[in-house]
Amino acid sequence: MIKFDYTNICNTVIGEAGLDINQCFNEYAPKVQEIITKLNMSKDKPGSWLQWMNLGYNEETVWYVKEFAAMVDGRFDNILVLGIGGSALGAQAMSEALLKPYWNILDKEKRDNFPRIFFLDNIDPDQINSLLDILDLRKTLVNVITKSGSTAETMSQFMIIKDRLYNLLGDDYRKNVVATTDKQTGILRQLSNEEGYKTFVVPDDVGGRFSVFSAVGLVPLALVGIDIDEIIRGIKIMDLSLKNTDIYKNVAAQNALIHYLMDKKGQYISVMMPYSSRLRYFSDWYVQLWAESLGKEFDREGNKINNRPTPIKALGATDQHSQIQLYNEGQNDKIITFIRVDEFDTEIRIPNIFEYTGLNYLGDKTINQLINAEADATAVALCDYKRPNVTIRLPKINEYYLAQLFYMYEMQTAIIGELYNIDAFNQPGVEQAKNYTYALMGRMGYEESANELQNKIQKNKEVLGLS
Ligand code: PA5
Repeated sequence: MIKFDYTNICNTVIGEAGLDINQCFNEYAPKVQEIITKLNMSKDKPGSWLQWMNLGYNEETVWYVKEFAAMVDGRFDNILVLGIGGSALGAQAMSEALLKPYWNILDKEKRDNFPRIFFLDNIDPDQINSLLDILDLRKTLVNVITKSGSTAETMSQFMIIKDRLYNLLGDDYRKNVVATTDKQTGILRQLSNEEGYKTFVVPDDVGGRFSVFSAVGLVPLALVGIDIDEIIRGIKIMDLSLKNTDIYKNVAAQNALIHYLMDKKGQYISVMMPYSSRLRYFSDWYVQLWAESLGKEFDREGNKINNRPTPIKALGATDQHSQIQLYNEGQNDKIITFIRVDEFDTEIRIPNIFEYTGLNYLGDKTINQLINAEADATAVALCDYKRPNVTIRLPKINEYYLAQLFYMYEMQTAIIGELYNIDAFNQPGVEQAKNYTYALMGRMGYEESANELQNKIQKNKEVLGLS
């Protein structure tokens, strides 16, 4: 199992900035027990948005995904994922971590004949045009993913690409499309039915940011040869361990409580800092999960709380030469999470070539030793400055441990949401911006909203004398 180490948030290590951890665990043990019991009891209740807790047991989906991957095996050079936010970040983070680094520029043999994978998660025209210049769409399988079936970014990309595919392949273009969307509703579902696309379902009661282990994540991952059975094994073992209602045995509850109490003490900024480039996108996924789930205006009773947990991403060792100055000496308003990898896939020895230059301390060591020494050094330096930090240790980066990590964070988010007494599964702030975009782009039914918006923009300018 992955390991969670909270030594460096204890007051025995960082003094008053820290917590008397046993006292905190004991005080919150009944509350945590109640929360975990409630989550497990209500997970199958429609509308609870907890179906992500069942995804590790959805054998049928895994079977269909593997069948599809086997069916298209060898037919495509590229997988192009169209999606945004929760519809893209999970698979992107997992594939970046699990595929060999620089996957897309490796020779086919080095990719074990699996396709390259691209995520078009933005609507920058220059980026889209450049990608279309390098992709042979005839040899590209497009996985368009949107739960609502109507998100402007994803659907505009799909319209552009569908048009090009059709011009190249005629009616056969359908064979290059696989859609992942709601089982019944939404424009993409309707289009899929009309056009006859192969489809997968975003299950009910699974929000985008909790969907990585549904077909949303599993389809693209399986298409590039990632072992989804091992992912499922990793989720199951973590799920089993996180069903434990004893806070002393439940790492997700521990980390949720630590972050909750740290926020109360003023350390509301949560920095995710893996010491592994392959986990860089894990931080992006985490930032979305934490921000969208916890940044809420109201609690469940309708009290205005403007909840503030603020996720930030950093990368070790790179950001030691950038952000660490602030973390050590700036405001003590952060809790830093380090992720350490015990055993990297490969090892590089540093040759002892500059013997008499003062660099010989590096010679004959490995880069692996250096990166982990830097992680240790940074953690100790933070403690010297009385800055709270926790460490998660991954024995290796593989499907099994990574699934544990992702699932632990999903559960941790659900638990801290309960501690805050907020709805961690809605996103009114995101919907607001989506609706304004529809209005500005002239979508039918949004005319009133469009007028209102134009008036607001105009009024703001007038106030500043800019109109
Ligand atoms: O986590 C979420 O719910 C959001 O980030 C959505 O995934 C994102 O807005 C994309 O939505 P959709 O999948 O409907 O296109």
